[in-house]
Amino acid sequence: MTQEKKISDFTSFEELKEEAMKIMGKTLSQEQMTRQFGFKGPGDKRSRDVLDNIFFKQQIIQDIEPKTDIELFDQKLKTPIMIAPMASMATMFEDGIGKMCAATREVGSMTWVAFYSKEHYGKHVKTNPLVFIMKPVADREKLLNELKIADAEGCVALGIDVDSGGETMFRMGAGGRWGFEKPLSINELKKIRESVSKPFVIKGILSVDDALKAVEVGADAIVVSNHYGMKIDYCQAPLEVLPSIVEAVGEKIEVLVDCQIRTGSDVLKALALGGKGVLLGRPIYWAARVGGTEGITQLLRVITTELKKIMVYTGIENVRKVPRDTLILPRTFF
Ligand SMILES: Cc1cc2nc3c(=O)[nH]c(=O)nc-3n(C[C@H](O)[C@H](O)[C@H](O)COP(=O)(O)O)c2cc1C
Repeated sequence: MTQEKKISDFTSFEELKEEAMKIMGKTLSQEQMTRQFGFKGPGDKRSRDVLDNIFFKQQIIQDIEPKTDIELFDQKLKTPIMIAPMASMATMFEDGIGKMCAATREVGSMTWVAFYSKEHYGKHVKTNPLVFIMKPVADREKLLNELKIADAEGCVALGIDVDSGGETMFRMGAGGRWGFEKPLSINELKKIRESVSKPFVIKGILSVDDALKAVEVGADAIVVSNHYGMKIDYCQAPLEVLPSIVEAVGEKIEVLVDCQIRTGSDVLKALALGGKGVLLGRPIYWAARVGGTEGITQLLRVITTELKKIMVYTGIENVRKVPRDTLILPRTFF
């Protein structure tokens, strides 16, 4: 946190990001900052462009009280904006998972954690609803074991970011102890699904085909995501594929979405296109850099407040029911 500015003075994601970049610039090179945290490859850029080309129909003559609560994995949340799984939140911040949990507890949201072993999330899982997302590591025994531990520990849902399955190698920290990653076949996913008792999530879906496979596997939820454009350069934007995915599987499973969600307007666009909730990745990282738990809490509050404001301006009373015709969509959607 800076001397001059209190956390409560940050009233937009952009301000928090700017401050985070100043702080990170003291220890990281420009290239490191861009690559790791500000990345805008073609897919990442496309996620932003798609969002920026959607507009709202204004309807302000009404007296609604916007309601932002949702229910997911049997948890009652006060906001549809959750924290995306990010491995480095555990390793680059002291008790990073604790910081995320304290913030989500404060605002009534939910923390998703990446493939850390129990030592990182174990002390928080009893008091916070955590969703655990495992990497598709080549050592399938390890993969299953980590999921079973998370299941037994009490995570409210478990899953895999299947879109990491095409990496040539994944290193955790300096050791590379997680070994190679490998795509999961539908049969492997079915077996994994049968071995865990909690709701099962598949993260990294970008096509109707994969969404249908997720249903066949028995998944309870999917995250439509391009992993901030990090997996393949020329990937589609989650929001442009979301409507067809929701049409194909939306009656059967929960559909969540992420990538480049930065403002309340972005959230409402994602919900109007059929998402039940959204996940935030890099903004959480930046907010934590600026103000730890307080920074993350402020960010979640700011975006939820922006969401309420844009709901008032578009005449939307409830985030559970956001009609698509709230949006003016570009031709590419038809
Ligand atoms: C530093 C960093 C680490 C990440 N690690 C993981 C991970 O371990 N597992 C995973 O499923 N997604 C991971 N992600 C992707 C996020 O869960 C999420 O899909 C993405 O960041 C959303 O886009 P946004 O950053 O534009 O909000 C990571 C993202 C970042 C920025």
